[in-house]
Amino acid sequence: MDRAKALEEIHGQIRQCTRCPLHVGRTKSVPGAGPVDALIMFIGEAPGFHEDQQGLPFVGAAGRFLSELLEQVGIDRRRVFITNVIKCRPPGNRDPQLAEVEACKEYLDRQIEVIKPRVIVTLGRYSMARAFPDEKVSVVHGRPRKVGDQTYFPMYHPAAALHQPSLRGVLEADFERLRDLVDGRLEPEVYNPPPEAEQLSLF
Ligand code: URA
Repeated sequence: MDRAKALEEIHGQIRQCTRCPLHVGRTKSVPGAGPVDALIMFIGEAPGFHEDQQGLPFVGAAGRFLSELLEQVGIDRRRVFITNVIKCRPPGNRDPQLAEVEACKEYLDRQIEVIKPRVIVTLGRYSMARAFPDEKVSVVHGRPRKVGDQTYFPMYHPAAALHQPSLRGVLEADFERLRDLVDGRLEPEVYNPPPEAEQLSLF
């Protein structure tokens, strides 16, 4: 199957999904948007009010700020793929629950598998936890890291800067570093996951 068709098939399944209770309250699920051959994939947290209404990611206030950040470093929003860890809006925009993240995980895995982005930018802690579950965004943001063949670039969520204006400059600097990474002026660190507790207990 060609890649565009494979991606559309995943998105069709997400639009009809009933795997977790969030489907009951949704207006539209939000599979993601962007070209199947995108080099950069952004993963946010979950759809908010406007995303739920339109079925599109990052179209509210945080989305406008994301567009601004991209524009500032000359990255065309139409050339990147944007999605979320969970594809339906949690009531009142509460944090995603573990069971919801688990129910949606297969969709995100398949999107990554089909798109094969060169860089995955994680926006906020729920998205970062996919690659770096035990880290803090405040410590690792702006540092691209390679896990196996995949480069991850953790960043603060743009909505965080709307609540805490001092983070605006931090996000702007991290987007400059993303530009450097994409242009080959910045190398990702090689990340070796910490040994599992069971492995430690062998010693
Ligand atoms: N915040 C997110 O994490 N995702 C969206 O799509 C919109 C706001």
